[in-house]
Amino acid sequence: MKKLIINGGRRLCGEVNLQGAKNSVLPILAAAAAADGISVIHNCPHLSDVDASIKILRHIGCRVDIENETVIVDSTDASGWEIPEALMREMRSSIIFLGALLSRFGRGTVAAPGGCEIGLRPIDYHLEAFAGMGVEINENGGIIECICPKGICGRRLSLNFPSVGATENIILASIKAKGETVITNAAREPEIKDLADFLNKCGADIRGAGGSIITICGVETIHSAEHSVIPDRIIASTYMAAAACTGGKITINGAERKHLAPIIPVFEESGCSVKSDENRIEIAAPEKLRRIRYVKTMPYPGFPTDSQSLITVMASIGKGTSVISESIFENRFRFVPELIRMGANIRVENGCLAIAEGVEKLHGANVAATDLRGGTALVVAGLCAEGETRIGKISCIYRGFYDIEKYFSSLGADIRSVNG
Ligand code: UD1
Repeated sequence: MKKLIINGGRRLCGEVNLQGAKNSVLPILAAAAAADGISVIHNCPHLSDVDASIKILRHIGCRVDIENETVIVDSTDASGWEIPEALMREMRSSIIFLGALLSRFGRGTVAAPGGCEIGLRPIDYHLEAFAGMGVEINENGGIIECICPKGICGRRLSLNFPSVGATENIILASIKAKGETVITNAAREPEIKDLADFLNKCGADIRGAGGSIITICGVETIHSAEHSVIPDRIIASTYMAAAACTGGKITINGAERKHLAPIIPVFEESGCSVKSDENRIEIAAPEKLRRIRYVKTMPYPGFPTDSQSLITVMASIGKGTSVISESIFENRFRFVPELIRMGANIRVENGCLAIAEGVEKLHGANVAATDLRGGTALVVAGLCAEGETRIGKISCIYRGFYDIEKYFSSLGADIRSVNG
């Protein structure tokens, strides 16, 4: 088992090129299974979740080639509609393949993804929407069998909550549906628009993605297309937090200013200077970080839950009292006890509210990554802590930020991975 070892306290300075967004590439790879022919997807980050998607694609009969950051999916001979439990378990977002299988084959069998480190993560919105579109669903022993004998029927759907995964799954299932599907209270995350942009290149008729009402007119055929995945706004916020916490200055090339609009004011409140043009962000830390008075995570365009752990680390060393409220997932403060081992003074109430009294400095400690975003935040904490931090159970970090040690080394960090 690999560990990260960080000797903290170095100012991080320099430039980095931002990688493609994990949360875009996963649904787009699933969409490539629904699109008949050879799709070419550029700007795919090297991630273990991408590897898991590729295994699923190959399992259902797609040919997949990888050339640097480009993944080429030939779905011409795809014929399998069942994803075995072992592959489903490798990645929670594998549920997104269900919509793609339904649209391609009119049926799909998957294992229920179940809960995960950050919360229960049910899929009731996905299944209720499918049922409303004429899909017959049988759940037995954790296996979900879906079949639509009369084809998928478009309809008006309203989500109780703007779920990212449910919005994507409904879009995927409805691209070849009979008639029109209208999703009200759809998720508005930039990754939804990226998926819709790819599918529209494939011949789909999707309007309104990026807004809260999305209309999909079913078409006869979905062909393949070439597409470049949008940059990862969450990784951008990771670099921003690393600069903020280490007193550094980092330029992030490729960062889309409009995707980071919900995040930038929080960094400014903490005293950072943020300069941006359309595709570049430059962040410089103040002498001493200030508190973040109150932040609540919300669906886009609110503050993203995936960046919450990062600002909690900033709050742990910001002068004064910061309050951070998590409203999306139940278990997103699981990394806080690890941060406390590093000297943070944080109280978590009811699992959803963190109250941080900023300390002068964090110190190195032996900690364990609890989940992807929490683990990444511990890396940022280690980068600014005095002394050595050892982070175990790092495989979850590589799900969304592969080679994290390489990227931070290039910015001047003393960080390395070791076996054992
Ligand atoms: C996606 C992102 C994840 C991000 C999250 C919220 C991907 C691959 N992952 O996850 O990084 O943190 O959006 O921005 O894109 N819910 C239900 N029933 C459902 C579906 C969701 O109750 O059927 C609840 C969830 O438990 C959660 C909330 O809705 O409390 C938001 O979940 P959702 O937006 O669906 O997140 P994911 O798509 O799983």
